[in-house]
Amino acid sequence: MDPVEIFEVGPRDGLQNEKRLIPAVEKIALIDLLSTAGFRRIEVASFVSPRWVPQMADGSEVLAGITRVPGLSYAALVPNMKGYDAARSARADEVAIFAAASEGFSRANLNCSIAESLERFAPVAQAAREDGLPLRGYVSCVTDCPFDGAVAPGAVARVVAQLRDMGCYEVSLGDTLGQARPEAVDAMLAAVLEEMPALRLAGHFHDTSGRALENIDVALGRGLRVFDAAVGGLGGCPYAPGAAGNVATEAVHDHLTARGHDTGLNRDLLLQAGGMARALRMG
Ligand code: HMG
Ligand code: MG
Repeated sequence: MDPVEIFEVGPRDGLQNEKRLIPAVEKIALIDLLSTAGFRRIEVASFVSPRWVPQMADGSEVLAGITRVPGLSYAALVPNMKGYDAARSARADEVAIFAAASEGFSRANLNCSIAESLERFAPVAQAAREDGLPLRGYVSCVTDCPFDGAVAPGAVARVVAQLRDMGCYEVSLGDTLGQARPEAVDAMLAAVLEEMPALRLAGHFHDTSGRALENIDVALGRGLRVFDAAVGGLGGCPYAPGAAGNVATEAVHDHLTARGHDTGLNRDLLLQAGGMARALRMG
């Protein structure tokens, strides 16, 4: 069976948008359950300004409290050196830098232009290289931006190339708004694949318009074999007004399995984790 990896981002992308401040102990319980389900990578925290995203302020506590499964990489998002240092102290196994393909979203999410964000990422990339920490990259708004409208495929490809040159082993392409049309995803991928091979790209689809699975099919057709998803379909992005959660891990698993792909995940445990994730939202 053709393997496809699901990169679980629920504890970070799923929970970051929740209004209720979820206690670290509840996040830890979710991550510990996810850790038994067969994932190779789980994004568990972000080390960003607590004023911007209060829900993620307890990343160090979360990373200190989880029961680490050997061989599983516990990842954290970092916007700058301050975040990198905190992630490293918390013993994150890998870090991710996150840029946008549109100026409007870069400004809303990182309070700076795309070029300025990349300048801030350069020392993070260098430190990660020196410390031997794998570095992942994200590009947000790969087809549509809530502020600037349609995004040109070439703009995405340019940012992907810069993240590649900084040493990202993989770049995750974010449909942040969850409104991408399959044709737009295909056109975007055609441009991005000129810069980076399919096996070093990941698809990151939010599911606002219910087209995430269709978009995953388009990406599979272009050769991508990693998809980000969040158990229970939780989340959204605090700086993308109206965006719904990531596509649900359970749904992606079932979709891929029905198409003959092997995710290596235990479906019963995924369903259990999905239930736990939804309960966290209720409090
Ligand atoms: P700023 O206000 O311009 O930053 O924010 P600053 O450098 O001027 O610092 C302001 C204050 O923040 C200072 O504190 C800093 O110390 C502090 P003060 O002296 O005023 O008390 N600060 C920090 N504190 C903790 N950790 C840090 C940190 N950095 C500065 N790392 C900044 C710029 C980048 C910090 C801010 O805009 C920020 O934190 N943005 C993050 C927003 C975010 O997390 N968004 C969600 C994640 S992205 C996403 O979800 C998309 C994705 O899923 C893909 C997709 O779907 O498209 C990845
Ligand atoms: Mg996201």
